[in-house]
Amino acid sequence: MSDLPADLFGEIDPPDRRLLMGPGPSNVHPRVLRAMSAAVLGQFDPEFTTTMNQVMALYRGVFQTTNKWTFMVDGTSRAAIEAAMVSVLAPGETVLVVSSGRFGLLLQEIGQRCGAKVEIVEAPWGEVVPMNAIKAAAERVRPRLIACVHGDTSTTMAQPLDGLGDVARGVGALSYVDATATLGGMDVAVDRWRADIVTAGLQKCMGGPPGIAPITISDRAAEHIFARRHVEKGIASAGDNAGPAPVIGSNYFDLAMVMDYWSDKRLNHHTEAASMLYAARECARIVLGEGLPKRIERHRLAGAAMAAGIEAMGLKVYGGAAHKMFNAVGVFIPEGVNGESLRKRMREEFEIEIGTSFGPLAGKIWRIGTMAGNARKHHVAHTLMALETALRREGFAAKASGVDAALGVYDGAKGD
Ligand SMILES: Cc1ncc(COP(=O)(O)O)c(C=O)c1O
Repeated sequence: MSDLPADLFGEIDPPDRRLLMGPGPSNVHPRVLRAMSAAVLGQFDPEFTTTMNQVMALYRGVFQTTNKWTFMVDGTSRAAIEAAMVSVLAPGETVLVVSSGRFGLLLQEIGQRCGAKVEIVEAPWGEVVPMNAIKAAAERVRPRLIACVHGDTSTTMAQPLDGLGDVARGVGALSYVDATATLGGMDVAVDRWRADIVTAGLQKCMGGPPGIAPITISDRAAEHIFARRHVEKGIASAGDNAGPAPVIGSNYFDLAMVMDYWSDKRLNHHTEAASMLYAARECARIVLGEGLPKRIERHRLAGAAMAAGIEAMGLKVYGGAAHKMFNAVGVFIPEGVNGESLRKRMREEFEIEIGTSFGPLAGKIWRIGTMAGNARKHHVAHTLMALETALRREGFAAKASGVDAALGVYDGAKGD
């Protein structure tokens, strides 16, 4: 007996005009959607493996790195986070987590699940951890891995990371950065940071859908991971000797095997998510076609305009301005306004999504994103206009026009 309706719920038909101004996902670029409809090929087809190699080259550009090992982990951004951590950390090893928000807590939790000893260097939510505090903690705990979040969307703060690689090398550690929310919108300078592993996602500033996660790995981190190589029995060949170090605690996220698939060995580890690979390829082409400096400046300007508009209306921006992410702003929900009712109004009356919050900030702030194609003057202006009206209908009168203040930021600045 089936309770399915005769039309099997109808063809999928989500609203295609909704403006996604939350902390991600953001709207997907139409070129990316078109790329995703290209024909799926077998994962060892030479035309497909050529596409894989192109994706590796393109993401070296996006990550600003010369790392050979620059490729994709299939799954949402946390798939790459988990792959990085489980592939580096053997049970009992120490990870130092730099933590000042929900995603720092996520790194702690993944570290625990790896069986690692988790040490923390932290700052209150809304702040960042100074590099000298990271250095002091690293010298104290001598970790195998130092793990950080670049832009923690839960707090909208961007952790400064210059010097990270030197700190890690100074104590014989590897370093890891979660740049899910900043790649393509802020300066993710992998080689300048000398970071060993950096991972991201497509659904924020890259203008793609969630479902595949770019990753880049330094040679020295790759060497560490390959020492843990234990190719699964059913696909191992005579030359696949097990490495000397402990087996990686996950099969799917075993980066030694995943890298063997992305190398000339073409190890038959998994079936590559072909349509997502096409999406990643087109995202990178769009980002590099625009040019990273121009794109980052576009995000900076949109974020600054949004924050100026918010403040002009008499609302308060969350967190310190010095370390605010370009592409997300936290806004205190004013006294007497129901945060969820306002968000519902934005969605239902204006087709605009803005974000809620969690943990200690639940019910206290909204999070408004300006990411990928939405980091533009007209989207900032539309969002502020709608917000002003929605707030008035919820009983809060703006002090002054947020739109005027935002446009004032654009006046004289080069950018749209
Ligand atoms: C900084 C950061 N890390 C990790 C994630 C998790 O990403 P996903 O939901 O794609 O797994 C997010 C998602 O919001 C994020 O903002």
